[in-house]
Amino acid sequence: MLSSPRGILTALDHSARTGRRSDAEAKERRTMAALSSLGSLGSVPAAPGRIPLAGHVLQLWRRPLAFLASLRPKGGMVRVDVGTSSVYLVTDPDLAHEALVTKAASLGRGRVYERLRPVLGSGLVTSEGDVHQRQRRLVLSALHRVPAAEHTAISVHHAEELIAAWRPGEMVRVDEAMFDLVLGILLEAVFSSGLDRSAAAEIRYSTRVVSKGALARAITPQMLDRLPRSPHQSYDAAAARLRFVLDALIKERRGAEGDFDDLLSLVMSVRDPETGTAMSDGRIRDELMAMLMSGTEAASATLAWTFHELARHPKAADRLREEVDTVLGGRPCTHDDLARLEYTQRVLNEVIRLHSAPLLLRRTTAPVKIGGVHFPEGIELAISPYAVHRNPWLFRFPDRFTPDRWRTAEGSRLLPHGAFIPFGDGDRRCVGDAFAWTEMTVAVATVCSRWRMRPAYWHTVREVPAATPRPDAMPMIAERR
Ligand code: HEM
Repeated sequence: MLSSPRGILTALDHSARTGRRSDAEAKERRTMAALSSLGSLGSVPAAPGRIPLAGHVLQLWRRPLAFLASLRPKGGMVRVDVGTSSVYLVTDPDLAHEALVTKAASLGRGRVYERLRPVLGSGLVTSEGDVHQRQRRLVLSALHRVPAAEHTAISVHHAEELIAAWRPGEMVRVDEAMFDLVLGILLEAVFSSGLDRSAAAEIRYSTRVVSKGALARAITPQMLDRLPRSPHQSYDAAAARLRFVLDALIKERRGAEGDFDDLLSLVMSVRDPETGTAMSDGRIRDELMAMLMSGTEAASATLAWTFHELARHPKAADRLREEVDTVLGGRPCTHDDLARLEYTQRVLNEVIRLHSAPLLLRRTTAPVKIGGVHFPEGIELAISPYAVHRNPWLFRFPDRFTPDRWRTAEGSRLLPHGAFIPFGDGDRRCVGDAFAWTEMTVAVATVCSRWRMRPAYWHTVREVPAATPRPDAMPMIAERR
C-alpha cells in the first residue's frame, strides 16, 4: 500500500484524520521525499508560475496568502524566487518539525530580521545564537513567574472596560479595539503602577506604527534607507520614540522606591543561572520591544478574526454564547472559568489555524540536511504555518471553519509533529502563548456575554499579509444581547 508516493500520501491523509499514523509510515514518507529531491538544492522544484528574472514577485504581490496556501509540492519543499534571490519554503509538517525543532541549531534568523535589528534592537525576535538562548531563558523565567490568575484578572478588567464604553448600534472598528485591548493588558502586566497619559499615548501610537509597518520595512531594499526622503523615516522615527519612552520608564523604575508586582520588576530581577548576571537596561528595553511587537499584533488579529468568523457562522456563535452564559451566568470571568470555556477554546484554535503566520523565516548558519536536501550555509528558508494549516491531507476541508475538528481524533494531540504550529515550535516557540491564550479566551467570553457583533455591510474584509495575517479593517455593529 505504501509503495508509491500517492499511496503514502493517502495513508497520511487517512491516518492524520484518524490519528493512527505510525512512525514507520512517517519514516517511509520522509524517505520518499528525500529520494524524490535527490538531495541537492538544485533539485527542489520552483513554485508554479515563475516568470524569468522576476521569479514569483507577481504572485507574492497580488495574492501572497492564496499563493502560499496553494503550494503542495512533492517532497514538502518548494523554491520561491524573488528576483535573483531564492527562499526554500517548507509546507510539510515533518519538514517543518525538522527545521523548527530537530535541526534548529543550524538555523538562524536571516535577512528580514537583519533589516529589522537596527530599528527593533536585539530582543528575542531578532537575536540569534547564544545571545538568543541566554535571553530566552531569562525572559521565560520572568514570564513563568507571572501568576496566571493575576493575568486573567488584568485581562477581565480591560475587557469589561472596553465593552462598557460601547453603545447599542454603535460601529466598532473591531481590529483597532482588539489592538488597544491587548496592548492595554500587556502594558498593565508590565507596568503595574500605571503609565502617565503621554507615555501611554506614545507607546500606543508607536507600537501600532512599528508593528504594522515591520513587514514593509523588512522587505524593501536597503538602498532606500539612504534616500534623503526615505519611506522608512516615519517608521524609524516611531521605533526611536518607542525606545526612548521605554528607556525612560526603565530608568524611572530603577530610581523608584518600594516593591512592584509586575513583569518589569520580574525581568529586572532574573539572573542568568550560569553567570549570575542580570539583564542590562538596554537588553530589557529590547525585550519589551520584542513583546510589544510580537504580542499585540498576533493576539489582536486573532481576536478580530474570531469575531469575523463567529459573525459568518451563526450556529457556532450561538453555541459559544450558550457556553458563556452557562459558565459565567452573567458575571465577569474568573481564572477558574477558563478551562470550562471549552467550546470557546475550540473556536480560538480553529481561528488561529486558519489565520496563522504566513512564514517563519530562517537562514542556515551551518551546512544542514532538511527533508533529505543538503543546504549549505547562508541559505534562506521559510516554514509556512499558513500553508501547513490549510493542507487537506492534515485537515479535512481545510478552508472550512469547523471548531469541532478540535474535539475529535483530528485534534492537535493526535496530529503529527509540525502539523499545528500557530505559535511556532522548538527553541523559538512563542514565549507569550499562555498569556495570549488567557487574554483571548477572556476577551471572547466577555464580549460575547453581553454583545453580538454584526459585520458592517459596507465593508468586505480582506486578509492582509503581515507577521500574522490581519484584516484590512473590521468595522462591526455592536448589538446588545
Ligand atoms: C495569538 C497570539 C500569538 C501568536 C499567534 C504568536 C505567534 C508566535 C510565533 C509563530 C512565534 C515564532 C516565530 C518564529 O519561529 O520565527 C512567536 C514568537 C514570539 N512571540 Fe508570540 N504569538 C502570540 C502572542 C504573543 C504574546 C502575547 C507575546 C508577549 C507577551 C509574544 C511574544 C513572542 C516573542 C518574544 C517571540 C520570540 C520568541 C523567540 O524567538 O525566542 N507572542 N510568536
